Amino acid sequence: MAAIGKDIWRAKKVLDAGKLVAIPTETVYGLAGNALNPVAVASIFETKNRPSFDPLIIHVASFLEVENYVVDIPTALSRLAEQFWPGPLTLLLPRKNNIPDIVTSGLDRVAVRVPDHPLTLELLAQVDFPLAAPSANPFGYISPTSPQHVDAQLGEKISYILDGGKCKVGLESTIVGMEGDEIVVYRLGGLEISEVERIVGQVKLQSHSSSNPQAPGLLESHYAPSKTFLLGDLETLIAEHQRQGIDFAVLSLAQTFPEIPMNNQLLLSPRADLKEAATHLFSAMRSLDESNATVILAELMPDKGLGKAINDRLRRAATKR
Ligand code: TXA
Ligand code: MG
Repeated sequence: MAAIGKDIWRAKKVLDAGKLVAIPTETVYGLAGNALNPVAVASIFETKNRPSFDPLIIHVASFLEVENYVVDIPTALSRLAEQFWPGPLTLLLPRKNNIPDIVTSGLDRVAVRVPDHPLTLELLAQVDFPLAAPSANPFGYISPTSPQHVDAQLGEKISYILDGGKCKVGLESTIVGMEGDEIVVYRLGGLEISEVERIVGQVKLQSHSSSNPQAPGLLESHYAPSKTFLLGDLETLIAEHQRQGIDFAVLSLAQTFPEIPMNNQLLLSPRADLKEAATHLFSAMRSLDESNATVILAELMPDKGLGKAINDRLRRAATKR
């Protein structure tokens, strides 16, 4: 088990020594190390069991700091930064050479964001380097939204978890970059597309593909529980599993099923609020994964607002049948 606490100086000491600390953000917890130290960054990959072709986001304390690490910020993207930082937005920007290759997997662009959490902003202000931080989960598993989630999976491998409570957004950041004059969204996330479009006009959604290492969140199977996780019409799935006598648990937005024990049902938001659903998604998937059921049955959200990003995560979590 790792120590869990709010001691920024302790976190700084660990990071200064080239070791890793789990940090809270508004989206999910990150597994952070000194982004300018290739050895520290290598240990992030090792701790997560993450393939080294999957690049990392660097976290900085303010927009002003970004220019230390990038050669140019296109006007459209700087308008997004001004509007939404600190917040669940990551920008892909042409990097300077001080960013080690291992951070970007050798790509020309580096992913940058200013996270919206007071403890982590304070920590970033105290250290002399940006923090490279992927979500603090073993590669391919569900992202952590509480210190306990981090501890359960990585507690043996790291010494300190900075405790910032539960994440208030609950989905990873939205990743945006430019290709020529076009603004491209590479990962749906905690910042809604409509918010991005309100500032910069229409964007292109780059479909995720497992064969294109330029596209983030690239691996199709991701955010995945260890149990069988089936996505579809709940009435149909429930009937099918009842017929076969298989133990199941149900994950729905707001609907309850009277014939199923309450212990085996989780609602993401009883009032069908998609923001609330987003904050509960990963912890709900975890607790169902730890339940006695053999199979988890889930439904897609309405395809609007944060529902789009939630559906992206649900589809990647789903067991391919
Ligand atoms: O909300 C978040 O973004 C969280 C918190 C901790 O900040 N971080 C996070 O990191 O979700 P991670 O590593 O789990 O996901 C980062 C995604 C990956 O899919 C990666 O492929 C993509 O960002 N990415 C990072 N750098 C990139 C680059 N230079 N070019 C293209 N994609 C990049
Ligand atoms: Mg991740």
